[in-house]
Amino acid sequence: MNKIIDILKKKKSIPLDEFINVSLYDKKFGYYMKKNPFGKEGDFITSPIISKLFSEMIAIWCVSFWEHLKKPKKILIVELGPGDGSLCKDLLKTFEKFDIFYKSLKINLLEKSIKLKKIQQSNINNKNVSWIKSIDEIEYGPVIFLSNEFFDALPIKQMYKKGNRLFEKHVSLSNKTNELEFLYKKTTNKLIKYPDALKFSSSTNIIEYPIVAIEYLISIAKKIKKFNGSVLTCDYGYIESSGKNTLKAIGKHKFKNIFLQPGSSDISSHVNFKLFSQILKKNNLDVKKIITQSEFLQKMGIIERANILSRRMTFKSKTNMYFRLKKLLDSNEMGNIFKILYAKKKGKNFSIGF
Ligand SMILES: C[S@@+](CC[C@H](N)C(=O)[O-])C[C@H]1O[C@@H](n2cnc3c(N)ncnc32)[C@H](O)[C@@H]1O
Repeated sequence: MNKIIDILKKKKSIPLDEFINVSLYDKKFGYYMKKNPFGKEGDFITSPIISKLFSEMIAIWCVSFWEHLKKPKKILIVELGPGDGSLCKDLLKTFEKFDIFYKSLKINLLEKSIKLKKIQQSNINNKNVSWIKSIDEIEYGPVIFLSNEFFDALPIKQMYKKGNRLFEKHVSLSNKTNELEFLYKKTTNKLIKYPDALKFSSSTNIIEYPIVAIEYLISIAKKIKKFNGSVLTCDYGYIESSGKNTLKAIGKHKFKNIFLQPGSSDISSHVNFKLFSQILKKNNLDVKKIITQSEFLQKMGIIERANILSRRMTFKSKTNMYFRLKKLLDSNEMGNIFKILYAKKKGKNFSIGF
């Protein structure tokens, strides 16, 4: 908390995106910079950690996409925000079974946290995997960008409308209580590059603007356009905005007030998939329809795969596998709220899984 208070003593207020950035990614204070938040003992659990079948389906999708490209001799996979490295580790297990693909493959991991990078290095340990600091470092293709719960962990801005006036949400220190509080500062819409997806409706007066995600999407689209390839991203989110504040903090698998423990709990927001899709289209990619995690995994054959694996399992392992599968697919769990967006360089159709 001290880091935020120090900043606020000097600056009086900071925009919400700066507050999130310091809380999650400040070198010393940031949540992702100092702990491993994943798993049962951590704060939250993600699809690749819940079940290896998730990663297996993504792996099959990547191999199929490579086949669609006529099996190029070099294929690059870039995973954004790999967490504890589970997805990459399990992708490699499946990739190894496809000899020619595996020989053509290099994987780059883009990770901001040095702490998590070390965890990834010890979990993955494969000579074909290396780490990059920026998408600018990518120099060849075709390239497949993958991510799970990356974009929901990036700082956003929140804008409010009152009458004809626009306000931006800031964080400041209350004069009375000396505690963190929100402050609404008058602003203009100059910061908003994609106004169409962010129109205020009659029933809502708030928009969330993913200022960092937009820069990533533009860089990704440029690389795909230049080198050929695709992006497959899985995240918490919506297609039509409900105009709600989706910002939340999570610690020990429970929702928390975002001011309670900045630096010690995760902060995330829902991804606006319609906006993502507009940005990718505007940057010349062909965007396939956005579908739920449940639809994608089932179209990729996750249930059939589980049934095959179950034949050689003990009752206990079988129960465990189906319990995890239900978590990924059930509409009351992760099946519907998680969506998959897939875009590719314009050209011949490829729609496996969609
Ligand atoms: C919510 S975690 C998801 C982890 C993992 N993909 C999973 O599904 O388990 C977000 C990940 O993105 C990383 N990250 C966040 N912002 C980043 C950035 N700007 N550049 C690179 N990595 C970033 C975090 O450090 C973390 O590894």
